[in-house]
Amino acid sequence: MKRPIHGGNLIWAANQAGCPVTSIIDFSASINPLGPPNTAITAFQQGVTAIAHYPDPHYLQLRLALGKMHNISPDWIFPGNGAAELLTWAGRELANLKFTYLIVPCFQDYWRALQGFGAKIKCYPFSWESKTCLLDFPFVDPQSSGVIINNPHNPTGKLFHRDILLSLLEKFALVVVDEAFMDFLTPHKQQSLIPMVGDYPNLVIIRSLTKFYSIPGLRLGYAIAHPSRLQQWQLWRDPWSVNSLAVAVGEAVLNDHEFQQKTWSWLVASRKSLLRGLSALKGLKPFPSAANFLLVKTQIPSSQLQQELLEKHHILIRDCLNFPELGNGYFRVAVRSEAENQQLLKALAKFESNQI
Ligand SMILES: Cc1ncc(COP(=O)(O)O)c(C=O)c1O
Repeated sequence: MKRPIHGGNLIWAANQAGCPVTSIIDFSASINPLGPPNTAITAFQQGVTAIAHYPDPHYLQLRLALGKMHNISPDWIFPGNGAAELLTWAGRELANLKFTYLIVPCFQDYWRALQGFGAKIKCYPFSWESKTCLLDFPFVDPQSSGVIINNPHNPTGKLFHRDILLSLLEKFALVVVDEAFMDFLTPHKQQSLIPMVGDYPNLVIIRSLTKFYSIPGLRLGYAIAHPSRLQQWQLWRDPWSVNSLAVAVGEAVLNDHEFQQKTWSWLVASRKSLLRGLSALKGLKPFPSAANFLLVKTQIPSSQLQQELLEKHHILIRDCLNFPELGNGYFRVAVRSEAENQQLLKALAKFESNQI
């Protein structure tokens, strides 16, 4: 079985560990361990009757609900079959431009979306370990090129201040900001560009509901951009690519303020204690993160660590082998429940003591 390029491949992990899929504790995909919320489960169950019909191809109810939440017109919103589908259409647009700039390390799926349409890609490694973290690279022909960037940034957990991204919007023909993890920040800490989208026809924002609401198997995301761009995307894609159950769940969870509050409280406390626990282990250096995952520098190669954790503890971490700028010297872990985080720390501590 081939090594997975994304986190969350439990079939691969169970195969490596020689155990059932259900025994794996998955720290490799950054999914909210508190979910899915009851509102999602109820909406899913009640929505079952809708599968006898095609969904509304324009997803008006869902767009109205999202528009209300973000205080923008539904014409600016385009639901997709996960953020991944929306990256495909952003990739198609970017491929029409002279170059697409990737700020690396970056989420692997950007490569798929861009290479699938023959985009000419240029990479700039950004100094994510520094506090200021500017993006003032000597970009060639930005006025006829595009850029894709993730905020908060996967895999480093860095949060770009919106002013830094606004400076890209002044330079580039097209700026795609993937905000798949933005909802994990409390509203006053978010650096979303959604409030500015009306001022920038060259801006595309991509959001995911799969991580925060723990529905990666259901698939749901949305893009926010100028209506003329989204009308073009509608012509490109399959009709009904978002299924009725995803729509029903999406409409329900957006109003689940109790779950949102619970998630924000859990994350702030659990991330802090996981960061502290990892920092206390010799040979590991975790980096502070604005999101629900932590990037960790490791003296022991991460592929070796991953294998041992899987075989001995059925714990799956995300190695960083397919982030070429990071490689075997780093791994990424999701923040999970307090008990699971402790299990990870215990397993890592055992590994550390066996190495001495
Ligand atoms: C940065 C980033 N963007 C987008 C996605 C895709 O999310 P979705 O499950 O909504 O397709 C992921 C999934 O891991 C991600 O890490």
